[in-house]
Amino acid sequence: MSGTVTEFADFRWTEANRQEAERIIGRYPKGREASAIMPLLWLAQYQMSAQTGVAWLPLPVIEFVAAQIGMPKIRALEVASFYTMYNLAPVGRFHVQVCGTTPCMLRGSDDVLRACADKGLKKGDVTNGGLFTLTEVECLGACANAPMVQINDDNYEDLTYESMTAILDALIAGKTPKAGSQIGRTASCPEGGPTTLKDVA
Ligand code: FES
Repeated sequence: MSGTVTEFADFRWTEANRQEAERIIGRYPKGREASAIMPLLWLAQYQMSAQTGVAWLPLPVIEFVAAQIGMPKIRALEVASFYTMYNLAPVGRFHVQVCGTTPCMLRGSDDVLRACADKGLKKGDVTNGGLFTLTEVECLGACANAPMVQINDDNYEDLTYESMTAILDALIAGKTPKAGSQIGRTASCPEGGPTTLKDVA
């Protein structure tokens, strides 16, 4: 796993991310650098993932970002702790975020959660030897393709117990399952294919 919090006291940007951080800060007027807090925290979480295999934000990393934009540490921590996209504790290599909001619930998110449980995933825990963390989240904005999960940067949609099981099996086997609709829908077009605008080039 990723070690202790103090291990990250010397967190610094990689050269590529240093340039990216400066580019992000440059989007905002002088004196308003604090506006860059969200993309900078996101960038830092990505760097942690690349460097340690675990996408999370230890306190020293949050403090590093706060210092760069002259923001009080507590304000940066307030932002990081408000949004679920920032992980304040280590997560598994694959962060399985199952949407349990009403459209997904009505279309079978309980089956998706059952598939996760049957593969040993437990809500809020790092399981399967550091491979998975399961989190139940609120609407991820893909309701038309409910039920769905987000795993790291990809959405998996139109899920059933069987297709969720297949996705987890593929990840366990070191494969990359196909993201998107699991029943072949393009984006959120109707099941069975488009019914209008069929001839648009
Ligand atoms: S309710 Fe699940 S994506 Fe919106």
